[in-house]
Amino acid sequence: MTQRMEDQAGFSLSPAALARIDALAARYPTKASALMPCLWVIMDELGWVPPAGVDLLVEKLAVTHARVNEVITFYTMFRDTPQAKYTLQVCHNISCHVMGSTPLVRHLEQQLGIPKGGRTADGLFQLEGAECLGACGMGPCLQLGRHLYENVTPAKADALLDSLRKGIVPRADTDREGVD
Ligand code: FES
Repeated sequence: MTQRMEDQAGFSLSPAALARIDALAARYPTKASALMPCLWVIMDELGWVPPAGVDLLVEKLAVTHARVNEVITFYTMFRDTPQAKYTLQVCHNISCHVMGSTPLVRHLEQQLGIPKGGRTADGLFQLEGAECLGACGMGPCLQLGRHLYENVTPAKADALLDSLRKGIVPRADTDREGVD
């Protein structure tokens, strides 16, 4: 018997991820309060939240499909479609814009050979804009999952791409906390 939870659509979460969701659901007075950290569990494992993942959270957290979907679609870090391995989000709000986010995006577009909003043919990179990432004094800022890179120059962006192509996520300036 499989050690993973799977359905006919191929949805699969590891036992460890399922255990984390159960633990999070038990952590708060109301299960629904665990929705965002549980979404992160699925995002961390799959890189997106498929419909079966929504079904799972509806069952585990006693929330509606509408509630899960509105949270996924409101926050840009949650995704309801399959993603590239590395999604690079460059802040395009005013402070980062003043500090050079537009030339940075142009540089990344050239280096990756894709326009903003595009994905490389090998599925490795996706390039996007992002609203304020909360580090306005450190612009331009680039977010990669839980990692935030600050004062990103074209040279720093090149080093980041080189490292990611080798499968290494470089040390970020700021990492968001996990949910454990
Ligand atoms: S404007 Fe870019 S982090 Fe706030």
